[in-house]
Amino acid sequence: MLFIFLRGATIRTSVLTTLVCLTLLVLVSCSRGSAPTNAPVVVQEARSGEEIYRKYCSNCHQGGIVESPVFGKKEDWEDRIEKGREALIANVRDGMPPGMPKMGNCPSCTIEELGNAVDYMLAALEDEQETEEENTKAE
Ligand code: HEC
Repeated sequence: MLFIFLRGATIRTSVLTTLVCLTLLVLVSCSRGSAPTNAPVVVQEARSGEEIYRKYCSNCHQGGIVESPVFGKKEDWEDRIEKGREALIANVRDGMPPGMPKMGNCPSCTIEELGNAVDYMLAALEDEQETEEENTKAE
């Protein structure tokens, strides 16, 4: 009788041990599953103004298509620059019908990227000014 009881207890203990082990295993594997992995976090960096300009804006602005202000041509930009950078970016975002398309035809662009493109276009005007100055000095 005692023997049977003991055996029963042993079996019960081993079943319990197995259960505890299984629970632990599940817990361990679960916590591993939800633990932070080394998968790369995709943070898309803003594309440069030059990249955006070449891809989306140069089609029109390089050659003054549909009477757009020409890249690097100061007289085309004089009045526009006076609005200030933010106003220019807002006009790129909203478009200026009929010629200037909304988002400069780059729907995937962020405002930051459009700003980069505007900065790139404005910088080209400064470069021209410097070149002019250099030319004057050289003369
Ligand atoms: C389909 C041709 C076209 C494309 C593409 C285009 N533009 Fe323009 N853009 C124009 C025209 C036309 C104007 C002049 C609009 C007017 O004054 O009515 C203009 C005007 C502008 C201005 C001056 C806005 C102002 O307030 O005077 C900026 C800045 C500008 N574009 C930036 C960009 C940028 C940045 C891109 C690319 C992301 C771009 N454009 C793409 C045609 C284009």
